[in-house]
Amino acid sequence: MQALDLYATIEEYLDFEDEVHHLYRTIGHTVLSKDPKTLIDIGCGQGEFCHIMDLNGIKTFGVDLSSKQIEIAASKGTNAKCIDIKDVKETFDCATATFDVINYIPQDYIKTFLKNCYDVVNNQGYFIFDINSLYGFDNVAQGTLNIELEDKFIAIDANFEENILYTDITLFTQEDKENKYTKHSGTIEQFCYTNDELSSILTEIGFEIENIINFNLHSNDEFDKYIFVCKKRIKNDI
Ligand SMILES: C[S@@+](CC[C@H](N)C(=O)[O-])C[C@H]1O[C@@H](n2cnc3c(N)ncnc32)[C@H](O)[C@@H]1O
Repeated sequence: MQALDLYATIEEYLDFEDEVHHLYRTIGHTVLSKDPKTLIDIGCGQGEFCHIMDLNGIKTFGVDLSSKQIEIAASKGTNAKCIDIKDVKETFDCATATFDVINYIPQDYIKTFLKNCYDVVNNQGYFIFDINSLYGFDNVAQGTLNIELEDKFIAIDANFEENILYTDITLFTQEDKENKYTKHSGTIEQFCYTNDELSSILTEIGFEIENIINFNLHSNDEFDKYIFVCKKRIKNDI
């Protein structure tokens, strides 16, 4: 099983729901204030943010590179596909990428990826996403977590080294009553970007940074996230 699909399999046991909804509320209010008619959610996962935007009358489309995430999203009624953003041909009034998606993109691909995001946004449309701060990576995300369920055991070990968070996930699943377990393991890498680094790439591509919102997701001390609100400049302005 690929690491992204492994994450998709264990996501429901992570107990992040309240925090993630707090993030969705802030991103959602920002999106709604821009009054888009259509929205693409990049790295849509299991489709929860699309669902919330659907309920607010926006026509949504989700994409994710994990077929497992899309399978779950589609089973909940989300209009979603397992395709790379570079292969999306339609354009939307707003693009979003919620809950760490941008941090999944490696340094040598981030500019291309953000350009692909730019290409799916209509002129004067918005791209709104969150990233983890250095404080979030270093002080909040690192650590170990073990989850014991009736027929599963999940072990997570996250280490932040040289600007990359390595999250090792191991899942043991009981196959039968004779206590035979299958083991799946994989590592998710998340890359730390500074606001200046991303702002400079986004501006060069053709976005105007309208706002960067400081956000507390898991911590009450320093900000562990930032939310970028970017507007696509019309071609003549670039
Ligand atoms: C932490 S999850 C967040 C999912 C969802 N946005 C949410 O709010 O729950 C990160 C998601 O990014 C997806 N992802 C990672 N790299 C991606 C890429 N290059 N293109 C699209 N999705 C990607 C993963 O499969 C995963 O579903």
